[in-house]
Amino acid sequence: MDVLVRRLVWEELDEAVRVEEAAMKGYGYLRDTSELFFNDEVGPMLGAFHGEELVGIAKYTVLPDHTAWLETLRVAPEHQRKGVGRQLYEEFERISKRLNIPSMAMYTGLKNIPSYSLARVFGLDTAGRYREFQLDLAGCTAPEAVAAFEPVGEEEACQLLGTLAEKYEHFIIFNRTFMHMNKDIFSALAREGKVYIDRASGSFMAFGNRFLEKRSVQIAMMAGDYKKCMDYAVKVGLEKGVPQVVTMTPISDEALQQVVTDYGFKMAADLQVMSGEVR
Ligand SMILES: CC(C)(COP(=O)(O)OP(=O)(O)OC[C@H]1O[C@@H](n2cnc3c(N)ncnc32)[C@H](O)[C@@H]1OP(=O)(O)O)[C@@H](O)C(=O)NCCC(=O)NCCS
Repeated sequence: MDVLVRRLVWEELDEAVRVEEAAMKGYGYLRDTSELFFNDEVGPMLGAFHGEELVGIAKYTVLPDHTAWLETLRVAPEHQRKGVGRQLYEEFERISKRLNIPSMAMYTGLKNIPSYSLARVFGLDTAGRYREFQLDLAGCTAPEAVAAFEPVGEEEACQLLGTLAEKYEHFIIFNRTFMHMNKDIFSALAREGKVYIDRASGSFMAFGNRFLEKRSVQIAMMAGDYKKCMDYAVKVGLEKGVPQVVTMTPISDEALQQVVTDYGFKMAADLQVMSGEVR
């Protein structure tokens, strides 16, 4: 199908949300991330137009380690399997070449064959499998004697989080944004105040949100006394009035999954991150 792919402008937000909701059967978050996505001067919020009609959307994001994160790819159901997704990926490739970005990554549900297959066409392949867990805060009471977690600086963040690379299988995940574990990412997270330590117990974690702050707080990774980390997350979540604490574990890490389910987290989704070099 003949489509034109270009950057979307603010006035097109409602149309983009319509495509998102149609493709995701009513679910969506674009309206809540629109400030971040539409105001991003580096990575565009893209739209694919068939004539006047918006038929597909996708966001291209450059992460702090100068790799690309491909997100929010949706094609209106009546226009799927006509090459629209392919043309959005072709634009991802063009942008990557223009910006000299060496690699691209995205995530999808472990059972999302269309999304997986499309990514494979462009040379991306599975780089990790993760399980998302959610803890419902409704009716939760604030834990007692919560540890005094404090944010750390860039150097300490690199040193602490670096020790978790194997355990978390080389990705750090906030709001389903899978970032390679490296010093550029750790430093950026520290600058954003998202790496915490409890000096008394030596426990530490990457904690906060990339976006959607009203929907959850996220434990991207944790180490040391897990209960102290999760108690702190619950306390902050309750203070913020969000409905959930969310965390991710590698699917292979059954011991960590036991820890979070014993605490009360429920399994929410199985996801895979796919990455590849720009061709
Ligand atoms: C995933 C999605 C974006 C694909 O977009 P699309 O425009 O339908 O994909 P295209 O027509 O460009 O497909 C290109 C290639 O991807 C693969 N592909 C796409 N849909 C497929 C399917 N249902 N089954 C198997 N392979 C598929 C094929 O290799 C296809 O090439 P072909 O048609 O020549 O065989 C679309 O299905 C969608 O919006 N799904 C709902 C939202 C979603 O899951 N987004 C992914 C983010 S997690």
